[in-house]
Amino acid sequence: MIKPLKKAIFPVGGLGTRFLPATKSMPKEMLTVVDKPLIQYAVEEAYAAGIEEIIFVTGRGKSALEDHFDHSYELEDTLTRRGKKPELELLKKMLPVPGNIAYVRQQEPQGLGHAVWCARNLIGDEAVAVLLADDLVHGDVACLKQMADTYRQVGGNIIAVMEVPHEHTSRYGILKPGADKGKLVEVQGLVEKPSPDKAPSDLAVIGRYILQPEVFAHLAAQEPGAGGEIQLTDSMARMIGQVPFHGFRFEGKRYDCGDKAGFIEANMALGVAHPILGKSVRQAVADIARTLKL
Ligand code: G1P
Repeated sequence: MIKPLKKAIFPVGGLGTRFLPATKSMPKEMLTVVDKPLIQYAVEEAYAAGIEEIIFVTGRGKSALEDHFDHSYELEDTLTRRGKKPELELLKKMLPVPGNIAYVRQQEPQGLGHAVWCARNLIGDEAVAVLLADDLVHGDVACLKQMADTYRQVGGNIIAVMEVPHEHTSRYGILKPGADKGKLVEVQGLVEKPSPDKAPSDLAVIGRYILQPEVFAHLAAQEPGAGGEIQLTDSMARMIGQVPFHGFRFEGKRYDCGDKAGFIEANMALGVAHPILGKSVRQAVADIARTLKL
């Protein structure tokens, strides 16, 4: 039987050291692409996939995230008095259903596996999605929706994958592929951040996962792995052969927004594609390209 998929975990406790000084006192998930913080893109993607309950695994200094998904009475009152209906609607639309958002505190940054494990008591015997907000995926159909639609047919673990340049394997979880069915590729092995000479392929895991609840038992038992951190990849690797397990080649483009250059690229790409701002952003990009003789 395919277990229901209604909950999503957002690990947002990371320190954002790759994005200093911007992230000194502001969570990296609040970095804005065009006009929305990264976390809002990820939450909207989860809703598009049919997720009903969201769980943030936070850390110290992350209260801006909680405030972003709550009422802002002063702001709402001012907008009401000024008759700013569209802005009010925008704010209202992004409020989660009361009780369908929860926060768990990861007291120490011990790695992604540890962050996910911190949410274990809120999941029960159901599948769960995990979304890393600094991986922004832009496309016609939300990445997690593509995965969830497939999950509801095949079950098991499904993780988003993409080809990366061979010299970049040490930045990602890398898959050892089994039977390749095109969109779906069987997972035969997983290794966290292997150097290019040890990488079993160039197929990298990006931050979208659909996991069976057994993952929590593996996470509980886990020793630190790559970088001395408790890795989600290691626990997933222990599930190979126990549940159906597939890499999913999603449609869309992924931007690494935890990286400064990737973040700027995302702003340009989504700026150009924006229904209202697109025209002036295209003009600005063209002007820069002309000035630089690109
Ligand atoms: C995490 C995961 C890694 C995955 C990556 C995708 O690494 O541990 O397996 O490939 O996200 O962005 P991080 O980027 O947090 O170091």
